[in-house]
Amino acid sequence: MSAFARFFVVALAALAAAEPHLSPHVLHEKRAFAPEARGWRLSRRLEGHAILPVKIGLTQQNMHTIEDVLMAVSHLESPDYGKHWSAAQISGIERSRLRLSVSKGWIQVKAAASEVENLLKAEYHVYEDENGAERIGCSEYHIPQHLTSHIDLIKPTTAFGARVPPKKTRKRSLKSLSKRGETPEVVQQPTKLGSPSSFNGPKTDGRKVDGSTALGLEDCDESITPICLQTLYNIHYTPVSTKENTFAAGQKPVFISIDGGVAQTTNQSFNLSGESDLDLEYSTSLTAPQPVQVLQTGDLIEGAGLDNWLDAVDASFCTFEGLSTVLSGDDPALPPNVVTVSYGQDEIIVSAKYAMRQCTEYAKIGLMGTTILYSSGDDGVAGIGGVCLTENGTETTSGTRFNPSFPSGCPFVTSVGATQVNPNSTVFQPEGACEQVIFSGGGFSNIFAIPSYQEESVEAFLKDHPPPFIGAQFNNSGTSRAFPDLTHCINYIIAIDGEFKHAFGTSASAPTTGSIITFINDARLAKGKGPVDASHSSFINPAIYTAPFRAAFNDITQGGNQGCGTAGFTATTGWDPVTGLGTPNFERLLALWLLLP
Ligand SMILES: *[C@@H]1O[C@H](CO)[C@@H](O)[C@H](O)[C@H]1NC(C)=O
Ligand SMILES: *[C@@H]1O[C@H](CO)[C@@H](O)[C@H](O)[C@H]1NC(C)=O
Ligand SMILES: *[C@@H]1O[C@H](CO)[C@@H](O)[C@H](O)[C@H]1NC(C)=O
Ligand SMILES: *[C@@H]1O[C@H](CO)[C@@H](O)[C@H](O)[C@H]1NC(C)=O
Ligand SMILES: *[C@@H]1O[C@H](CO)[C@@H](O)[C@H](O)[C@H]1NC(C)=O
Repeated sequence: MSAFARFFVVALAALAAAEPHLSPHVLHEKRAFAPEARGWRLSRRLEGHAILPVKIGLTQQNMHTIEDVLMAVSHLESPDYGKHWSAAQISGIERSRLRLSVSKGWIQVKAAASEVENLLKAEYHVYEDENGAERIGCSEYHIPQHLTSHIDLIKPTTAFGARVPPKKTRKRSLKSLSKRGETPEVVQQPTKLGSPSSFNGPKTDGRKVDGSTALGLEDCDESITPICLQTLYNIHYTPVSTKENTFAAGQKPVFISIDGGVAQTTNQSFNLSGESDLDLEYSTSLTAPQPVQVLQTGDLIEGAGLDNWLDAVDASFCTFEGLSTVLSGDDPALPPNVVTVSYGQDEIIVSAKYAMRQCTEYAKIGLMGTTILYSSGDDGVAGIGGVCLTENGTETTSGTRFNPSFPSGCPFVTSVGATQVNPNSTVFQPEGACEQVIFSGGGFSNIFAIPSYQEESVEAFLKDHPPPFIGAQFNNSGTSRAFPDLTHCINYIIAIDGEFKHAFGTSASAPTTGSIITFINDARLAKGKGPVDASHSSFINPAIYTAPFRAAFNDITQGGNQGCGTAGFTATTGWDPVTGLGTPNFERLLALWLLLP
């Protein structure tokens, strides 16, 4: 057995309650939000025989020094070792059931809910939404004290969202399944809450647009079309390095299926297709002839979340198959140079440990040379659906504490907010923060510390334009990650289900930023340089916050992002938590990025 596998077995053995002489169990994670506040009804205790795919995320820094990990648990490497091993067997976790991820960052074991409850001193419950969809999770769990520094998190637990095992397998026990040599069917990944209100997508005001009338530059205050964006952001460029370059959000998009993702063409509705239509129509029309990839995650039954695409890139985050088996499609290059994701969640919905773990994955992808753009949310300083926080950190509609979004608060992604061409203004006048249908998500994380690239800008904002709020309303410590980083206008016209409609949301701004970065990468590739992030050995944020780059943005100084019973933050000179550094001027950014090695 390898050193790794040995450690895992020891760790698992130690998790078993059958080892009273080992250190006591201590609280590892506790859910900070009430599923009921998100429209989930407590249905029942999870059946003890339901099979959970337990994933133990090992602390990343320890993975570099496996020797240290082994030293740290060396008191387990005692003559008792054999006993631990048998304890593992007694508790039902045979070695054959353990799997190690490709990146060695996770161990997986399929275990009955009753076993898991025993190992983690947790209680699993089933929750139901109004449509009868079910999710499982526990409100808190515990692990032996001496393992706390080696284990980031365990899934599925507090992050909620794992589905209940399919009915047909509920009656079968793990034992009978393994006897018959079958792979037990398992509860799917805890990826998203599943409730429609927990993930954001674009909104429409329902107005249809007459497709027979051509829209021009004079219509941009009411209806954004690609020509408005090209004019507003000085985008006049035809890509030349399309074979070497990659952009995942033209031509017909290159479809890449992750975890059973399919192109759904059966049902029509704005809620179902608005996001994909918006992202693809704008990224393809802006960047043509650059091929654009669609990273479609999750099948129609189980759905998917942010973990699934991270997994496809990293081959470790949520399942263990990695690229070779989860991807299908034409010669997929992952990760692409630019990935734009127009989904997000409230930071409070994911636990701090979960958020940090996922953020670390973004850092790793950034180091591989990928720019990752996330929309900042559509509810101003509030969470999705206008939900805010209470003083004790729970989510309610009447809360007064601001509710920052995730992954925008992760310092390794670029967060994109929303502006508007003000009503009755032209594209040649300054934009304002978006104040129709949606409000630009922005604020300060309660989990992530401020990255150094942002310190100067955020400090200047807090000092020169102190917001009229107290520490009980937002994290005013000046030491937390602030977002968004930059912004783009919204109110796009999209073609959907045979009609033209208005789509509002920061969902719209991320693909536009992605298109701009894609052009910059194209120009750099044409000069024999690497993509933008490569020049900075991480990703775009450290570059854009420097003085020369800040000057390449159109500062937005009007409008706010209301929410939680307040007018929200106010856009002002310099960086602000409504519109970030402002909207990019493509030509100026291109010139600066071409100067970099
Ligand atoms: C499409 O609609 C049918 C019937 O309402 C429903 O059963 C199915 O789940 C829907 N598919 C998607 C992808 O929403
Ligand atoms: C679409 O989603 C919104 C919430 O974002 C909801 O209010 C609306 O009822 C949904 N529409 C349909 C047809 O499901
Ligand atoms: C948090 O505060 C809310 C309202 O102030 C209260 O209803 C709820 O019970 C509190 N929750 C906890 C866990 O203290
Ligand atoms: C824009 O102009 C129209 C026509 O002059 C006017 O009715 C409308 O009130 C104006 N809107 C705003 C927000 O100023
Ligand atoms: C504010 O942010 C800092 C840095 O991320 C964090 O340590 C602190 O706990 C946060 N404060 C609150 C009240 O969430």
